[in-house]
Amino acid sequence: MLAELTIRQLRNISALSLSPSPGINLLLGENGAGKTSILEAIHLLALGRSFRTRSLKQSVQFEQQQLQVIARTVTHKTPIGLQYDLTSGLKIRLNNAPLKKLSDLASQLPLQFIPANCHQFFEQGPKYRRQILDWGLFHVEPSFNLHWQAYKKVIQQRNSAIRQHKKVDEIQLWDSHLILHGEEISKQRIKRLEQLLSEFNIIFPRLCPSYKNKVFSLKYRSGWPKGSTLQETISATIERDQQLGYTRSGSHAADWSFMVEGYEPSEIFSRGQQKLFFIALCMAQIKTTQQGNIKSILLVDDISSELDPAHQKIILNELAKLSVQTFITSTDNSLTQLADNSTGFTTFHVKQGALL
Ligand SMILES: Nc1ncnc2c1ncn2[C@@H]1O[C@H](COP(=O)(O)OP(=O)(O)OP(=O)(O)O)[C@@H](O)[C@H]1O
Ligand SMILES: [Mg+2]
Repeated sequence: MLAELTIRQLRNISALSLSPSPGINLLLGENGAGKTSILEAIHLLALGRSFRTRSLKQSVQFEQQQLQVIARTVTHKTPIGLQYDLTSGLKIRLNNAPLKKLSDLASQLPLQFIPANCHQFFEQGPKYRRQILDWGLFHVEPSFNLHWQAYKKVIQQRNSAIRQHKKVDEIQLWDSHLILHGEEISKQRIKRLEQLLSEFNIIFPRLCPSYKNKVFSLKYRSGWPKGSTLQETISATIERDQQLGYTRSGSHAADWSFMVEGYEPSEIFSRGQQKLFFIALCMAQIKTTQQGNIKSILLVDDISSELDPAHQKIILNELAKLSVQTFITSTDNSLTQLADNSTGFTTFHVKQGALL
C-alpha cells in the first residue's frame, strides 16, 4: 500500500507529490490534466511497464532525459524508486538495492488496472484473459510461477526443435515435462477460477441489480480437446505441430469465461454491464488474493465512462468495503457527492500536471 508517491518528468507532470489515503483516492480534473498519467506512474512502479506504451520513451516528458517514480509503502521503511532514462534505460531500487527481477517488484505491490474501455476483456484474445487469471495465481499460489516458467521454457525448446526439423524422438524429448507442468497449471487454473466464480456470483448482482437472480457458470478451455489428456493430445498431434512449425495444444492456449444462463456476457450485456462484469471480476480477485497485511492496489481509469451515477455510486461503496487501496480518475467533479458519507475517500484535483 502506498503512503507517499512522487512523480517527476512523466508526461505533463514535472513534479508532483501525493499522500494517498489507504482507501479510495479520487483523481478529478479536466481532459489532459494528468489523471491517467498518475495511474501510469503507479502501474510503472508496480509492474515496471506502462499500460499505455510498449516503450517508456513516450512517457518521458518532452525535452527531458528521464522520468522518476518514487514511493514509500506502509510495509517498507525505505522507498521504492524507479527511473527510466532515455539512454541508460530502466532502473529500479528496493530497500536501497537494485532489483534484479521485475517479478520481485510485482509481488511487493499486487496491482490491478481497470482501463476506461475494460469491456475489451471480451474483445481481446485469450492471452489477456489468461494474464488476468494467472495474476491471481501468481499472488496466491507460490508453485504456480515455477510451473509456468518451466512450462514456457519447455514450449520454447520444443518449438525450436520443431523449427529445426529435428527427428520426432528429439522433439518428443520435451513432452514429459510439458505434460507434467501443463497438467498442473491447468489444475491450478481450474481451482482458482472456481474460487473466483463463487466470489463473482456474490459481487456481480450487487454491482448490477438487474441481474440479481442470475447465476454465472464457468467456461474453461484447457488448451487441448475435452475428454483427452494433454499426453494423448500431444502425442496425437505431432505431425500437425511439425506442419504448423509450433506446438499448438497446451496450457499456453487456454481460455475461460463466466457464462450467464448459457450465454457469453459479450453477446447479451450492454457496454455498461460489460464494464461492471470486469469490475466485479477485479473485486473477486481482491477478495481471493488477500494475504496477511499486504493490501492490493486497484487503478480505475475514467470510472464515469459507460456507467451512470447510480452504478458508480454502488461501485464506490462496494470498493470501500474491500481491503484495497484504490485510485479512480474521472472528469466528473460530482463524483465526490456520490459516495456515502461513511465511505472514506480522499479527493485530489489535478490541473496541468499538478495538484490544486
Ligand atoms: N511525453 C509527454 N510529455 C509531455 N506531455 C505529454 C507527454 N505525453 C502526453 N502528454 C500530455 O500529458 C497530458 C496528460 O495526459 P493524461 O492522459 O494524463 O490526461 P487525463 O487527465 O487522464 O485526461 P482525460 O480526462 O482526457 O483522460 C495530456 O495533455 C497529454 O497530451
Ligand atoms: Mg485519462
